[in-house]
Amino acid sequence: MGFDAATIRKDFPIFDRVLDGQPIVYLDSANTSQKPRQVIDAMTSFLENSYAPINRSAYKLAAEATDAFEGARKKVARFINAPSADEVVFTKNATEALNLVAYTWGRANLQRGDVVVLTHMEHHANIVPWHMLAAERGIVLRWVPLTADGQLDLTDLATLLRDAKVFSFTAMSNVLGTITPVKLLCDAAHAAGALAIVDACQYVPHNVTDVQAWGADFIAFSSHKMCGPSGVGALWGRMALLDAMPPFLGGGNMIADVRLDGFTCAPVPAKFEAGTPPIVEVIGMGAAVDYLDALGMTNVRQHEMQMATYAMHTLTSRYGDDITIHGPRNVEVRGATLSFAFRGVHPHDLSQVLDQRNVCVRAGHHCAKPLMRLLNCTATARASFYLYNDESDADALADALEGASDIFGF
Ligand SMILES: Cc1ncc(COP(=O)(O)O)c(C=O)c1O
Repeated sequence: MGFDAATIRKDFPIFDRVLDGQPIVYLDSANTSQKPRQVIDAMTSFLENSYAPINRSAYKLAAEATDAFEGARKKVARFINAPSADEVVFTKNATEALNLVAYTWGRANLQRGDVVVLTHMEHHANIVPWHMLAAERGIVLRWVPLTADGQLDLTDLATLLRDAKVFSFTAMSNVLGTITPVKLLCDAAHAAGALAIVDACQYVPHNVTDVQAWGADFIAFSSHKMCGPSGVGALWGRMALLDAMPPFLGGGNMIADVRLDGFTCAPVPAKFEAGTPPIVEVIGMGAAVDYLDALGMTNVRQHEMQMATYAMHTLTSRYGDDITIHGPRNVEVRGATLSFAFRGVHPHDLSQVLDQRNVCVRAGHHCAKPLMRLLNCTATARASFYLYNDESDADALADALEGASDIFGF
């Protein structure tokens, strides 16, 4: 069966909503995605029928809840082709996953003068934790620059990576939509003796993810961008690395023993999951993986390539030089996240005008201020398409821009 976004959209109750007499045109999935009935029902059913503590109690209900929780871990592991479910650590989100690596692996392994390589297109979640480490212990940051069309400029990669300890990079830019050559970058990191950390927050929701084919050392992603609930994300890491790392937060669940004179850690992944986890959200993340699996990530990617092609063509053929779409034009190396500038209208004004037609786009710096400076702007408008969007959404955006032109007197 072909991929039919209009049918898929029926799974998402929010699209039944009529707001101020108009349907919702949701083009902000790079920010956070909407949730299908299947995820909502899985969480509700768990709350109504199976809710109990996990890992701590011997009674039947608790065993059932623990099985469901660990079952979700297995689903997430399969989804990214992790060799073992024990290598999947549930975190609050991708931000926490990246902080966990910088905080624990970073503090255990990086000394003054050690080099961490990042790129100019990183989200703040993959910049600030390294800046914090730089301020604390004097690590040195190097930056991979960008080409004019918003791809990584890899001309001097080997030089940038020389003597580096870490190369941490995004698999897909949340601003430019650029998909980076992850395997090539992981190989380059390893050739230089560095760890490869992949911010896969924008990639996992939209593509087939295979951590083994990539050869990555760690990847981070969030449930809320992939049809699951907010409040949970995941860090995947190689067991040997996770095993050798000190814990992150201390407390219940992460210990094997506690004495008056110290403690020993539980095995991975419990070592990194201190306290009561987001139990219901993990169940929801597992259901989101089931949902995406049933659609097929190859189909999702195919659909989004078509959406990116259609949206870029529609906007440029209608507005020509009045619209600037940032990032690559080649849909083989980009997702369906389109940041754009329109006729000099400030993105915040633009998003407010589009909102009059319920066209939801993000306006701002997208937590990527170094990239904004490179683009020579303080903000962009960003329309991001997902599996429930179709051509009608791109048309609605183009029509609403016409309305903006009227308001701003073009
Ligand atoms: C590329 C990228 N990395 C990391 C994050 C952080 O995700 P979260 O806010 O879910 O932790 C985002 C969120 O927009 C992102 O786009």
